[in-house]
Amino acid sequence: MHELVSWGRVRLLGEAGVQAGNDATTPAVKITVLGSGYVGLVAAAGFADAGHQVQCIDIDVARVEKLRRGEVPFFEPGLREVMSRAIRGGRLTFGTEINAGHRASEVYFIAVGTPPLADGSADVSAVYAAAKTIREVAEAPAVVGIKSTVPVGTCDAVQAIVDEGARVPLRVASIPEFLKEGTALADFMKPDRIILGVADGEAERVLRDLYRPLQLSSERILVMDRCSSELSKYAANAMLASRISFMNELSRLCDAIGADIHAIRRAVGSDRRIGPQFLYAGPGFGGSCFPKDVSALAYQARQAGVPLEVVEAAGRANEAQRVYVRDRALSMLGGEVAGKVVAVWGVAFKAETDDVRETPALPLIRALVEKGAEVHIHDPEAADNFVRSYGLPVRCFENEYEAATGADLLVVMTEWRHLRNPDFPRLRTLMRTPNLFDARNIWTTFELGKSGFRYLGVGTRST
Ligand SMILES: NC(=O)c1ccc[n+]([C@@H]2O[C@H](COP(=O)([O-])OP(=O)(O)OC[C@H]3O[C@@H](n4cnc5c(N)ncnc54)[C@H](O)[C@@H]3O)[C@@H](O)[C@H]2O)c1
Repeated sequence: MHELVSWGRVRLLGEAGVQAGNDATTPAVKITVLGSGYVGLVAAAGFADAGHQVQCIDIDVARVEKLRRGEVPFFEPGLREVMSRAIRGGRLTFGTEINAGHRASEVYFIAVGTPPLADGSADVSAVYAAAKTIREVAEAPAVVGIKSTVPVGTCDAVQAIVDEGARVPLRVASIPEFLKEGTALADFMKPDRIILGVADGEAERVLRDLYRPLQLSSERILVMDRCSSELSKYAANAMLASRISFMNELSRLCDAIGADIHAIRRAVGSDRRIGPQFLYAGPGFGGSCFPKDVSALAYQARQAGVPLEVVEAAGRANEAQRVYVRDRALSMLGGEVAGKVVAVWGVAFKAETDDVRETPALPLIRALVEKGAEVHIHDPEAADNFVRSYGLPVRCFENEYEAATGADLLVVMTEWRHLRNPDFPRLRTLMRTPNLFDARNIWTTFELGKSGFRYLGVGTRST
């Protein structure tokens, strides 16, 4: 490993537009972010908005062209405005390569994808590739912060990669990201905590300076070793996934024995030791994080000879919930699926995102298509992504009522706000058969049976 000779600060005051949010005692930090997905782009825009000087690079040429035009390549509320402001202020640029100025970055962030491999482990090859890029270009001592969610030991492996042949000392740190799609900017700007997994005090000092503008109201930094930091991210996601799976299993029991999952949620969640969050039963968790992180953590634990029974069960319960919800929806068609028209409201894995990775809508829609149903989908942001990603023969509708016209079954799979209070009398006249399946339990408070609908939720009393 290189000895740290000098950590001379790159003072940017005086360069165009770099001062915002900083004063002479906390000069802007020159940052390069590798990866412009949900995590990388939010971090790049967020740090630039906090006054730092940021270049965000990606290997996806088309994506970079979009970004250069000021377009956000995915849906994330508020991101375009913050990004545009930073671009106009000269604090944020994009490229497919690290530009000459940013080869002297003080901090590099790796925010590339870590998708699941067939055996459930995390594919960290993009992280290693990004580390090699940094090693080749870095011209000044820097911290390499890994924001991607990576198995324990990845920071050590990346340290070994950058130590081999870099011209300057590079200190690898684990800085896991806890943002949620849909509220990513707010989560980034006001995080519950900032975890710094570091192997030395210099890296900690640089990172504390970097995060200073995001800590004006209170100190949120937790410093720990790199392995604990890497594991913290998986532990948090697995804990949240376990809560969801626990409630989902209970919802199935509720359906079987006639209890109401809403009542259970309120009863359990009002206990201050438990708290009300992440206790909603539904179609099972999806997205690009929980499913893969649960399986990657379980995989690493098995490899270490310490299988995590609770985590494994959370993953299995989620699979079971997806199947349960699919079959419960299909059951409303009375065994005759071919030729039926089914409207699906919402295909994003959750509201306020266009992300359809591991969306719970997929198993249902795939089954409907395979069994010969005509599927109409409506989603305000994710319909195109869904069709592009899965290539299923569905019809897309901008308007939710048009999607439901002539339907024998309407299924709500994503809890978008505009779907929470539909015009039920209108739906009743538009649909061919008045079957509603509410996989998010957003309509349980309406007395739908009295309006002539057959209504099923998940773990709630049916009408
Ligand atoms: N999406 C979330 O909500 C979220 C939240 C917390 C943590 N994470 C973690 O953060 C990481 C990134 O997630 P994401 O959702 O932003 O991923 P993403 O798939 O949306 O984006 C990754 C981007 O990295 C680019 N890339 C790949 N290799 C590269 C390289 N060598 N150099 C530069 N760019 C490269 C890809 O082209 C892509 O644009 C993952 O490990 C994920 O688990 C995601």
